[in-house]
Amino acid sequence: MKDAAPQTIHLKDYTPFGYRIDSVELTFKLHPTATRVISKIAFAPNPAASDTRFFLHGEELELISAAIDGAPVTPRKVEGGIEADVPDAPFVWEAEVEISPETNTALEGLYMSNGMYSTQCEAEGFRKITFYPDRPDVMAVFTVRIEGDQPVLLSNGNPVERGDGVAVWHDPWPKPSYLFALVAGELINHPDSFTTKSGKEVELNIWVRPGDEDKCAFGMEALKKSMKWDEDTYGREYDLDIFNIVAVDDFNMGAMENKGLNIFNSSCVLASKETSTDANFERIEGIIAHEYFHNWTGNRITCRDWFQLCLKEGLTVYRDQMFSGDMRSHAVKRIEEVMILRARQFREDNGPLAHPVRPESFVEINNFYTATVYEKGAEIIGMLRRLIGDEAYRKGCDLYFDRHDGEAVTIEDWLASFEEVTGRDLAQFKQWYSQAGTPRLKMSEAWDDGTLTLSFTQTTPPTPGQTAKNPQVIPIAVGLIGPNGDEVVPTTVLEMTEAEQSFTFEGLGARPVASVLRDFSAPVILEREIDDATRAFLLAHDTDPFQTWEMGRMLAKDTLIAMIVRDAAPAPAYLDAIRAVLTDETQDPAFRALVFGLPSQDDLAQTLFDAGITPDPQKIYDARESLRHTVARHLSDALPTLFRPTEPGTFTPDAEGSGRRSLSLAALSYLALLDGGAAATSLFAQADNMTEQAGALQALLSAGLGTNELQTFETQWKDDRLVLDKWFTMQVASAAPEKAAEVAEALSHHPAFTNKNPNRFRAVFGALSANHAGFHHDSGRAYKLLADQLIRLDSLNPQITARMSGAFETWKRYDADRQGMIRTELERILATPNLSRDTTEMVSRILSA
Ligand code: PHE
Ligand code: ZN
Repeated sequence: MKDAAPQTIHLKDYTPFGYRIDSVELTFKLHPTATRVISKIAFAPNPAASDTRFFLHGEELELISAAIDGAPVTPRKVEGGIEADVPDAPFVWEAEVEISPETNTALEGLYMSNGMYSTQCEAEGFRKITFYPDRPDVMAVFTVRIEGDQPVLLSNGNPVERGDGVAVWHDPWPKPSYLFALVAGELINHPDSFTTKSGKEVELNIWVRPGDEDKCAFGMEALKKSMKWDEDTYGREYDLDIFNIVAVDDFNMGAMENKGLNIFNSSCVLASKETSTDANFERIEGIIAHEYFHNWTGNRITCRDWFQLCLKEGLTVYRDQMFSGDMRSHAVKRIEEVMILRARQFREDNGPLAHPVRPESFVEINNFYTATVYEKGAEIIGMLRRLIGDEAYRKGCDLYFDRHDGEAVTIEDWLASFEEVTGRDLAQFKQWYSQAGTPRLKMSEAWDDGTLTLSFTQTTPPTPGQTAKNPQVIPIAVGLIGPNGDEVVPTTVLEMTEAEQSFTFEGLGARPVASVLRDFSAPVILEREIDDATRAFLLAHDTDPFQTWEMGRMLAKDTLIAMIVRDAAPAPAYLDAIRAVLTDETQDPAFRALVFGLPSQDDLAQTLFDAGITPDPQKIYDARESLRHTVARHLSDALPTLFRPTEPGTFTPDAEGSGRRSLSLAALSYLALLDGGAAATSLFAQADNMTEQAGALQALLSAGLGTNELQTFETQWKDDRLVLDKWFTMQVASAAPEKAAEVAEALSHHPAFTNKNPNRFRAVFGALSANHAGFHHDSGRAYKLLADQLIRLDSLNPQITARMSGAFETWKRYDADRQGMIRTELERILATPNLSRDTTEMVSRILSA
């Protein structure tokens, strides 16, 4: 199947499947290298379809037998599956196939991880389990029988039978095949229960490998909070008797929302204060919520085809973001979201991999689980809500759930619900789904006798395959602050729809300062002439925390750019501003820590490139290091008071504790530049939690210290895979530019390194590509090392290989030498015999820049 030239699938070619499915019965006879899967599927002609071809997807399956209505048949083998002649009336398809979970290193379909069976079917993995119409618009009720000697045998839905070596599960809710799941192994559960708002008791379990049972409590709390939140906020109740979560060590993504049986990368569910950082806790809470929320946004209502992926992902990310904001702090959460959006999605939108939130074509759908589909997809929902208001948003959601329950639908169906409840025409708004690229929003101001005019122009640069761009609907949240620092006009949402548009505020006494794009009300790049004094004024007086942070960030960025381009000294305005924020005890420590953070090297490289300057990674690194030293010296008197270790025994993984630690550890990393590592060394020795243990080690490493602590850490944690991942990452992340490739290469020969575990591979090579100056070191050594590793990984795990090739997506920013070196590596990857469809598509797209 991989020999044929990869086919491009187009959104416009969608046609419904010729048959509907009334029921699916599956029997699994588990065996590591010879699992038998027996299927019995009741099909009936689909009156809504014109194409009656009976085609079933199937990949890497050995067909043992097939029958239609009990009579043996020999299906025709075709590209990607099989075809058969079937009656023009309801019929029963039966097949038996053999598969080999143990040799499945791609981690798609049924595979083994540490002796346990697990599945991953999204997007197109079910076709590696049996012959089936493996497309999301075919929904069916499944009954699954598992035969195996493992003590725990799980599948979707409710348990109907449990005996020695056998379990039967029935899922009453029709679902697409991508939501199928099966788990079998020696697992221990952390049980609990939840009573839904209508009084139904649901059994909850988190299943883990023996030894991990003390790391489930936090995830369980997060699950119960999510269930409650979805009832309170969206009126959505859980719909089965049981909800199972399983932790798996080998997993390509974060987690998967299989109906009633969520499967998690163990890094996204296992938590304890000794082994998890505050960032881990926050992420785990968010991902548990995300997968749970999919039960309605994704499972009960799913996608008609994979082009509609954002229908479930953008919406579900939006929902988990709101949940996390409610659980923690909306202000801090929003700033973190914007940081992620800019670092990943804006970066993607700026390069050869730019694509619309709803792409028009793909070769391999796995390559479209992107920041654009997820994060920009979520921003679109946020904009929709801003434009129509909270009440209409909730009404539209209710209508959507009501109208489409049990269906596989499109973005058009989603938007139609909101058009109906608001009477608005969302045709122009819909362009957010079809137009790639980040809009640039230019603003100018005029003041005339009590009237302030804000004028905007919007342009979106061309992206691959899309040169001409139309004006979008941009909600611009604006507030006005009077000269005395009081807010004279509270947040108002201006609705921009034209390429150029002005908005006036009348009857103002004195000229106010405009606070524009509050709460980051749209995923755009705001270009605004603004001087340091105005920034400092907004930093001090704006009521919008995102804006305050943004002003600090812009000051830091300008300072760094001036240091890089003109060898300027760090700007006193910046140094004074952060001192003021940092020492302001009335402000939330988490927020102060965020203001303390410097822009990333990658961000600076893009900013330089946008200004027409070829970024020099070493220079960027040096300037940032130099600023770190200056800040440390400038704040030397304040740092010791900002560094406040958690009292032993008092750790709590909540927003408050985590905020305090992030400020304290940020201070510590500066302190380490001044005190020879004394404070960090003692914190490392005393900390009773991973946040501070790892934070102290990080502070030492980034000051060029910590050799002994690194060794202590390895010895202490060598048996904990997730903590050991941190050990791998920290070394690569903190390596000096000229050392990064060498460090990563040495670690790839460490006995605990393996490229079969995606977390471990990412721990080393994800960290290498994130070490900007190290990855782009002018020796080209890191480029070559990553290419070597990707070539080796491709035959094992195409999905991870393709994803990680994105490290090269920014190559056109750099000088001719670097571009030449990267091109050589990309071409070398592309020339690899039998390169996967996934990697071929990604590398070709990157090269086509
Ligand atoms: N649907 C999963 C999520 O967003 C992501 C995923 C995609 C997991 C593909 C595995 C494979 O929650
Ligand atoms: Zn999701």
